Amino acid sequence: MNQRELFLKHVAQTSPAPLGIEVARASGAWLYDTNGKAYLDLIGGISVCNMGHCHPAVVSAIKKQADDYLHVLVYGEFIQSPQVQYARLLAENLPSSLNSVYFTNSGAEATEGAMKLAKRATGRTQIIAFKNAYHGSTQGALSVMGDEYWRNAFRPLLPDVLHLDYNSFESLSFITARTACVIAETVQAESGIYAPSPEWLQALRQRCSETGALLVLDEIQAGFGRTGTRWGFEQLGVVPDILLLGKALGGGMPLGAFIADRPLMGALAENPVLGHITTFGGHPVCCAAGMAGFKALLEEGWLQEVKAKEQLFRRLLVHPAIKTVRSFGLWMAVEFDSFDTNKKIIDAALEAGVLTDWFLFAPQCMRIAPPLVISEAEIQAACKTIVSAIDPAGRT
Ligand SMILES: Cc1ncc(COP(=O)(O)O)c(C=O)c1O
Repeated sequence: MNQRELFLKHVAQTSPAPLGIEVARASGAWLYDTNGKAYLDLIGGISVCNMGHCHPAVVSAIKKQADDYLHVLVYGEFIQSPQVQYARLLAENLPSSLNSVYFTNSGAEATEGAMKLAKRATGRTQIIAFKNAYHGSTQGALSVMGDEYWRNAFRPLLPDVLHLDYNSFESLSFITARTACVIAETVQAESGIYAPSPEWLQALRQRCSETGALLVLDEIQAGFGRTGTRWGFEQLGVVPDILLLGKALGGGMPLGAFIADRPLMGALAENPVLGHITTFGGHPVCCAAGMAGFKALLEEGWLQEVKAKEQLFRRLLVHPAIKTVRSFGLWMAVEFDSFDTNKKIIDAALEAGVLTDWFLFAPQCMRIAPPLVISEAEIQAACKTIVSAIDPAGRT
């Protein structure tokens, strides 16, 4: 059997039509398959590879850490320099109340940890989330996912969860003294890049403070420069009680985190102790890689280029079949009339060597979230390919 047949036979599939590109190597904004075909990657592992594939500093940090030690003991027992130094670097780049980092394996585990922390710290049970939200695929995270189609088959899920309209002032009165936490994406991703108004997010912050509900902001996709600043909330004038990070946090290695003020985080350390347990969360190699990636983001000037690159995409992605482009940094949804149209264009672009995707709750929208290191020339080439993929694919 060849590799593709083995993939289909032995690697569990959850979709009838996997993309099936056989990856040989990846570098910067490029992927290469085993036939030598190059793909310009406009999705970067779904907002993971913000510093591009195999950034040299990330690769060398991984190699160095692998030479020193790999896994040594479950989370939180030993003092491991990559964890300690990365937690410090994160805290130095966050508001002072976000100073205690619990590293996890994934974004979904960060969501789980934050919901547990909120219940434990407030003694309340109600969790409020928003329609069209995505916070992960474990059963707790699925419970706060804002789409009944994707949730329903897995019921029963967590009780006492309420879904409200995002960016709606009417929603805010449902947050009460019963609410343990409100969990929101700073910018909704899977609904097709919807940013809230700063006024609404600030009102949400205020309502949470008034009622004692904790505000959990999910920046698992928004973080690490995707929006043009380190964190999306910096542009919207709020500070959450608990911040969720993942994806680019690990620089291409698996890593998540929930971050809070130290006294708040202390609620997981008593009655019972070990309020959240993870074997591999904060793996030293992942922390070393993530820290190298974050340092590259801070030191190499990529943040300053995000807005100009966003504008370049917007200037070039013009065609009558494109209904609208919503963006917030190098993070955009290009909307067509239907999933069918979108999928044909995605497939035609892929054939021509440009990798894009659609969104879970917005299948009519093309996802563009490239590595932030993508160059202007690469953006020009990618947009040319996408626009010319529209016509042969039969759009009006
Ligand atoms: C906004 C958001 N939250 C949470 C998650 C879950 O992260 P993970 O897939 O690492 O569990 C994702 C993943 O796509 C996400 O986009």
